[in-house]
Amino acid sequence: MNLEPFRPAFHFTPPTAWLNDPNGMVYYDGEYHLFYQYHPNDTVWGPMHWGHAVSTDLVNWQHLPIALEPDELGIIFSGSAVIDWHNTAGFGSEAMIAIYTYHSSDARQSQAIAYSLDKGRTWIKYADNPVIPTPPNIRDFRDPKVLWYSDGHGKGHWVMALAANSAIMFYTSPNLIAWQAAGSFGFGQGATDGVWETPDLFKLPIAGTAESRWVLTVGIGDNAPAGGSGMQYFIGQFDGQTFINDNPRTTVLWADFGADFYAAQSWSNAPDNRHIWLAWLNNWPYANQIPSSTWRGTMAIPRELRLLQTKEGLRLGQTAVPELAQLRQNAQRWQNIVVTPGVAFVPGITGDQLEIIAELEISTEASNLGIRLRVGDGEATVVGYAPRSGTLFVDRTKSGQSSFSDQFARIHTAAVEPADGILMLHIFVDRSSIELFANEGLITFSEQIFPGEASVGVELFAEGTAVTVRHLEIYQLRAAQFRPWPANAASEGPPHA
Ligand code: FRU
Repeated sequence: MNLEPFRPAFHFTPPTAWLNDPNGMVYYDGEYHLFYQYHPNDTVWGPMHWGHAVSTDLVNWQHLPIALEPDELGIIFSGSAVIDWHNTAGFGSEAMIAIYTYHSSDARQSQAIAYSLDKGRTWIKYADNPVIPTPPNIRDFRDPKVLWYSDGHGKGHWVMALAANSAIMFYTSPNLIAWQAAGSFGFGQGATDGVWETPDLFKLPIAGTAESRWVLTVGIGDNAPAGGSGMQYFIGQFDGQTFINDNPRTTVLWADFGADFYAAQSWSNAPDNRHIWLAWLNNWPYANQIPSSTWRGTMAIPRELRLLQTKEGLRLGQTAVPELAQLRQNAQRWQNIVVTPGVAFVPGITGDQLEIIAELEISTEASNLGIRLRVGDGEATVVGYAPRSGTLFVDRTKSGQSSFSDQFARIHTAAVEPADGILMLHIFVDRSSIELFANEGLITFSEQIFPGEASVGVELFAEGTAVTVRHLEIYQLRAAQFRPWPANAASEGPPHA
């Protein structure tokens, strides 16, 4: 019997035990570092540590010993990391510096730093932590994202974006140690029906132009489009002190319409001007109950980010990192398949590790069309499109196990218009998830599913009228490599391994 039927093949999971947010994401000397909220002693949330792994290609990962452990100031909540190229903090040239939140035993939150001089392998906490103490009246005061702001004239300073209740506060510093309050943003802008968490702030190019805009992303703890926690974003200007929204305060922009995309963070210092982020593939209302076994919590696949000009204005476009193509095997391609109502097209390639690219011709006479995934024994996860209402949906009401939460078995929707009559779908299927990127990644859905191991079917369907699938491409995907902690590492290895 497989004790880990839901263990993903190409998504990052901890060796054992509980994982939530990605933390401290920084690229340095050929390695992408991924730290993460980690409770090493159980498969439910508990006293937080920073787990750690590195990758040279965003696909294959090397697990490393725990980087930060709780201490007398508190447990270690989410945060970020930077390379201190010019030794502004005085810890050493090119020190890797982590900026994180302490959550104390009396639930007070403060910001602290730690540094590493050996590529993140060992960490020293700064002796005079915290660097930003708990303010008197703010209970939720956490998740520092730090970046270097350059004024374009040879000067610059560090900026911290910090979630404080339902707003983002900005701080500035010359050295990551002394911080000064600067501007703030929020207070009723965007979606506010939940606590704001895990901010990120970066400048993104607008595709096809020489221009760029600042993007502020914010996790919201409740009432996201698919219920529970989700990611929203704002597009605007940042002047080194504060963020100014280009859109009306009532505009709400969501980064994903599935249920499982939270606490996304981008890599600092990514090479070749890349903008790549990664999210926790989960949702707080049921995160502690999902039916995985020896571990609990998965990261979504890394995504490349850019801004796209649309009829409605600028929007975030997200695509899976191209490095994932190394996992492709057994490609099959079809052109101009006509799928008739009531007769599913079965491509004959099955699996629980698949990549699917489909170009569907959309006629408004069709009532529904799409792709059923992980089909078997009364189970299926449906990626569908309803042309009359212009709604793209993922239906996981029959996707497999769902009794662990009454918030799981639902249909999630987003408005999508075909581009020149074509709906483009790019889908990744893993052992307990699907991720869907539609039309250049303007709309994405990230969803966990817990089907039976034998549910591996794929079917294309049409209702109402025949649908032409102009192009279909399916790959089986190999498993990525997740190498265990090295035997000679400072710690003994993963707990319960
Ligand atoms: C987001 C979050 C953060 C916090 C961390 C604790 O998922 O609630 O705000 O730092 O998780 O694990």
